[in-house]
Parts: sequence; C-alpha cells; structure tokens
Amino acid sequence: MFLIKFSFLLISANVVITFGEQSQKFFRSDYEKYLPETDSFYKVHGLPKTFDRAKETCEIEGAELFYPVDEDEAKAMITYWKEKQFFSSIYIGVSAPFVPEVYQTIHGASIDTVYNKWAKGEPNNHAGNEHCLTLLDDTTLNDINCDTTKSFICKKRASAIHWNLLCDLPDKRYEYVEQLGRCYKFHTNPRNWTEAFRACNAEQGYLAIIDSQGEADHLVNVTKMAKKDDVEGNYLRGAIHLGFVKKNSMWRSIMGRPLKSLGYKTWGTNQPDGGDRENCGSMFFNGKLNDIGCNQQCFFICEREIPLLENSINLRFGDYDDVQ
Ligand SMILES: *[C@@H]1O[C@H](CO)[C@@H](O)[C@H](O)[C@H]1NC(C)=O
Ligand SMILES: *[C@@H]1O[C@H](CO)[C@@H](O)[C@H](O)[C@H]1NC(C)=O
Repeated sequence: MFLIKFSFLLISANVVITFGEQSQKFFRSDYEKYLPETDSFYKVHGLPKTFDRAKETCEIEGAELFYPVDEDEAKAMITYWKEKQFFSSIYIGVSAPFVPEVYQTIHGASIDTVYNKWAKGEPNNHAGNEHCLTLLDDTTLNDINCDTTKSFICKKRASAIHWNLLCDLPDKRYEYVEQLGRCYKFHTNPRNWTEAFRACNAEQGYLAIIDSQGEADHLVNVTKMAKKDDVEGNYLRGAIHLGFVKKNSMWRSIMGRPLKSLGYKTWGTNQPDGGDRENCGSMFFNGKLNDIGCNQQCFFICEREIPLLENSINLRFGDYDDVQ
C-alpha cells in the first residue's frame, strides 16, 4: 500500500512539471505548426467546409479561423498547406457578414488593418453573392459565396492559451473531480447527438459515460449548477446527451462496453421507450438514463480522462495491478 501511494506521488510531481512547461510551447498535438514570428500554432483542415462550418470547427477546437495579419504570415501559411495538400485556396477569417463589401475579420476589425492584397479584379461580389474571402496560393485574396466549401487553417495564439493543469488540456471550462479522477464540461450550446459527439471529440474529450452512482450524482450536480435556464432555441429541455448508443439492438458505451456491464444502468421510468426512433443515449436532469433521437438537440456533457495518470488510477479501463 505504501509503495503504491509513493509511486503515485512521484507520478503526480512529474505531471505538474511537464504540464507547466507545456503551457509555454504546446497547444494540441494536432496543431503541429508553430511560427515564432507570430507566436502562434496552426492546423490545416483539408476537408472542405462552408465558411460558417469552418469557423465553427476552429472554435470547437479552441482556436480561430486563420486570416493573415501580414504578407509574411500569408506566405508562411501557403508554404505550410502546400507541404500537406495541394489546394489552390483556403477560406480565411475575413468576411462581409452584415453589409456587402464591408469586410471585417472574425474579431470585427476592418480588413484595412490586416493583410488585404486582392487578386486582379477582386473583390467583384459576383452576382451580389460573394461575402466570404479566400487566400489564393499566389498570396492574393478573392471573394466567393460563403456556401462554397473550402479547406481552411485554424490558428491559436500562444498568449491566448489557458492551460488547465489538472485536466491536461487548454480549456479551463473542464472541471477536475478528484473522487472520480476525471474532468467534465457541461455544454449549454444545444446540439444533436452526432454533433455533440463531434464537439467533445474536437476538444479532446468524449461524451460522458456514467460508470457509478457517484458519477451520476456528480453529473446531476453539474447540471444543476450549469447556467442553462436562459438558453433559447429549439431544443429538448430536460435531457442531456451522454456517451452511449444503441447498435444492433444493444446499448453500449461509446468505448464499446455493453451498458449492462457498466457500473450505472438506471433507466428513467418506462425508459427506453423510443424503439427504432431513439438510438442515442441521454440522461434526464435527475441522472436517470433515457433513449433519445440522435437528431434531437439538447445540452451535453463532455468527459476527459487524465492521460498520464490513467494507468494508475483509472478503474474503468485498468486497475492497480497494471502499474506494479
Ligand atoms: C452534490 O451537491 C450536494 C449539495 O451541494 C453535495 O452535498 C453533494 O456532495 C454533491 N454530490 C456530488 C457527487 O458531487
Ligand atoms: C445533426 O446536426 C447537423 C448540423 O446541424 C446536421 O448536419 C446533421 O444531419 C444532424 N444529424 C442528425 C443525425 O440529425
């Protein structure tokens, strides 16, 4: 017993030291490009998306849709994306969201304050329908229809990284729960199950899986505390997406384990009741499980393992024997 405790303390000490250093020069492993000149991290998204989806994708990764501040940054990013894939242009975080031809960055600053070398004859607002901007690989800008899908780059300034030491990720909204050895974040932005799954994944977590009564109680508390009462929109109040689904008539956690074998499987009264219409998993605000349509928008909770400690304290996927 003493030995186990001792090694655990050593691991903890290491963790703190490593994470402290990481906050200086690390954002996420998928933001592999760092430019000292801008003190920023970058990631190329090759899969083309509309302007709004591109912007949102960067946001859920905790970053921002890239736009060049100056010609050096424009050139550096063209070189970077050409190392990866050969698109001839990408969306940048500059558009005319309110008034045609009045272009501003995603931060609301005028295009005059950032890089703005137009391609010949551009912007032309063709057919009155081009309100979003692309950066071409000849370092000029063009306006296009915002529904066109394009590749894009996300950017994170190092000075804007807020490292969460206990949860080991750059997001302070994850809360570490010592008794459970995990971190949780309640999302008050309603999404359908599929998009909730995607959002948790993008921020390096996963839709929460309840594995004990204590964890259920905690998530009920988290739900009570969440600032959710004023959230408007067309979503299902009273339910929260969780990380379990029905596949081939069997409920399983998104880690693959049958619900029956988890440490918590308390369905709400008469649940599950949706048959083939409700193949995704949620809980009511009281913690009882509920089947829900995968297209139903509601709140959701993401969970995060603590990577370096997981072998020693994670009772869900391993046990103490693995450490010795
Ligand atoms: C939930 O909140 C109550 C009241 O604040 C507290 O007494 C209880 O310990 C909490 N339970 C968990 C599991 O966090
Ligand atoms: C979930 O929402 C997204 C975005 O609104 C939509 O494209 C997708 O079809 C929805 N998925 C389901 C299963 O309803």
